[in-house]
Amino acid sequence: MPSKKRKKRGGERRVIHPRNKYSENPPDFGLLASLYPSFEPYVFYSLDGRPRIDWTDFNATRELTRVLLLHDYGLNWWIPDGQLCPTVPNRSNYIHWIEDLLASDLIPCTRGNSVVKGFDIGTGANCIYPLLGASLLGWTFVGSDVTDVAIEWANRNVKSNPHLSELIEIRRVDTETKIFDAEELQNKQKDNINSYVDSTNTVSVDMGPSPSFSLRSQSVKNSYHGPPVLVGVVKDGESFDFCMCNPPFFVTMEEAGLNPKTSCGGTPEEMVCLGGEEAFITRIIEDSAQLKHAFRWYTSMVGRKSNLNILTSKLWNVGVTVVKTTEFVQGQTSRWGLAWSFMPPSKKMLFSHVTEKKNLSFMLEVY
Ligand SMILES: C[S@@+](CC[C@H](N)C(=O)[O-])C[C@H]1O[C@@H](n2cnc3c(N)ncnc32)[C@H](O)[C@@H]1O
Repeated sequence: MPSKKRKKRGGERRVIHPRNKYSENPPDFGLLASLYPSFEPYVFYSLDGRPRIDWTDFNATRELTRVLLLHDYGLNWWIPDGQLCPTVPNRSNYIHWIEDLLASDLIPCTRGNSVVKGFDIGTGANCIYPLLGASLLGWTFVGSDVTDVAIEWANRNVKSNPHLSELIEIRRVDTETKIFDAEELQNKQKDNINSYVDSTNTVSVDMGPSPSFSLRSQSVKNSYHGPPVLVGVVKDGESFDFCMCNPPFFVTMEEAGLNPKTSCGGTPEEMVCLGGEEAFITRIIEDSAQLKHAFRWYTSMVGRKSNLNILTSKLWNVGVTVVKTTEFVQGQTSRWGLAWSFMPPSKKMLFSHVTEKKNLSFMLEVY
């Protein structure tokens, strides 16, 4: 699939997913202000005559998200003050990347023609991924979370869209459950399978035995000690086409607040966890090594490129069959998508994929 490329000031290339609604037409704040009186007070005109909003004003970014979801996706949506406010073009891009992964047949579909079933780890009060995936593509979702406010508002957002309510289940994670110990997991890890890695920039094939399982090398201090993530939340016998996650990226709220140019809200429960995203995604990896074929694709957003490399190494060590990465560019910020599977890759697709691998990678310029 062709990627759309744009020239940014300074010559840097920016790419938005070609199926993203905003690929050809970025949101028109002037038009939205004329159509939605509640948005109008947040729009002002700069000297060059272009309509703008104050990105440091949480109320402005929340109202923009509300009107975009209504105008472009027919969704009714709201979140309480201070909860993490999603940027719609960026979140849509992750959905389209997963759509490409599922369509690529790199990992053949084993669930027949049944409707696509996704699992959103940490769906948040905003419930953005299930709402976008269900409304755009008719996917079904389980959206999990741990906080009362997230569960309450995710449910409200689903109920506000009755046409989607059959498609989305909000699942509360049992925060009392004993945390699964990584050493136990190590004992359970028996498979030594041949692995392939196909990432944005490199493709390598390892036909030898998998390296020993060594997630324990992460210091205990920095390991995840929170509530269950997938193991203990996914029910016996359940299977999914994919999971996705926008994890708590940060170790502290100070780190989370480092971008003074935008105000997207975000409470400590949403933004922070002990060990940050590396620990949280490591837990997803550990859980995936147990659940294996319960998911066709496991995916997560990654906030730091250095963590992408660390996590990719961890994936090798648990015997995944495929790793794919991509980059999402949002304004001045980059995020990465990381995807892996334990299912056997289609060999035909594997080799044809080598030449086409960049087609699953794109960057997003937000708004
Ligand atoms: C960065 S927010 C993402 C919210 C939303 N998905 C989005 O993209 O805007 C991370 C979410 O993960 C939730 N969370 C933290 N630990 C969790 C766990 N063990 N299981 C499920 N959700 C968790 C937090 O409560 C928070 O809502």
